[in-house]
Amino acid sequence: MKNLRLIFGFTVTPLLLVLWLTVPVASEDIRMEFNDLLDEGLQSKGPVQMEHFLTLDATQKMCSGLNVDINSAEASQLMSKALAQIQYPADGIYIGDWKKGEEIAQSGKGLRFNDADDIENGGNCYACHQIRQEELAYGNLGPSLHHYGKLRGYSDEVLRYTWGKIFNPQAFLMCSNMPRYGHKGILTIEQMRHIMGLLLDPQSPVNE
Ligand code: HEC
Repeated sequence: MKNLRLIFGFTVTPLLLVLWLTVPVASEDIRMEFNDLLDEGLQSKGPVQMEHFLTLDATQKMCSGLNVDINSAEASQLMSKALAQIQYPADGIYIGDWKKGEEIAQSGKGLRFNDADDIENGGNCYACHQIRQEELAYGNLGPSLHHYGKLRGYSDEVLRYTWGKIFNPQAFLMCSNMPRYGHKGILTIEQMRHIMGLLLDPQSPVNE
């Protein structure tokens, strides 16, 4: 019964919320049942902490608002701040092991309610990008990153831009849909180097 209620809580609760808001007269019983479901479903569990969802930072606030103007003075201020906060590798080493990078790009692990707090997060890059040509299961919300280095070259500028983009995409495009991997501590500096290797090591299959 508990399992059933949990499943119900996670899948049907949003639907019920819509019904609750649109049907003005709901019986008291249903309302109580609904409140119980909300209490049970909307709880912090593992790495999923409710305050992360309920406390928005300035960028999230702006991008979740109505009539967002990404060319406004506020947006340009937020972008400048994001740019200034990017941490570049202190030793100047941008490129790690592309094989590990591929694993991280494939992995959607971490930050889910049933994950342990201390596991290494994945990047889940393939959810939005094509990267290696061999991988056919990829999303297309973001542009293809296949031949990333081959097309852009391997200059310091490209390394720095790509690092910054992965660290905090909001520094380059306000309200980007891409996660802020470094800024939000999703990936470590070491993991970011491996991902950089996947995109920008001339030996990586991405650049063959
Ligand atoms: C939820 C979707 C999503 C995920 C996950 C995602 N990205 Fe993106 N990415 C985007 C979108 C959308 C863009 C284009 C808009 C922009 O520039 O922000 C983009 C742009 C980029 C760019 C800039 C490309 C260029 O030509 O300038 C790079 C590099 C990039 N992503 C790398 C990554 C890497 C590496 C990962 C995994 C660690 C990743 N992305 C995960 C959505 C995503």
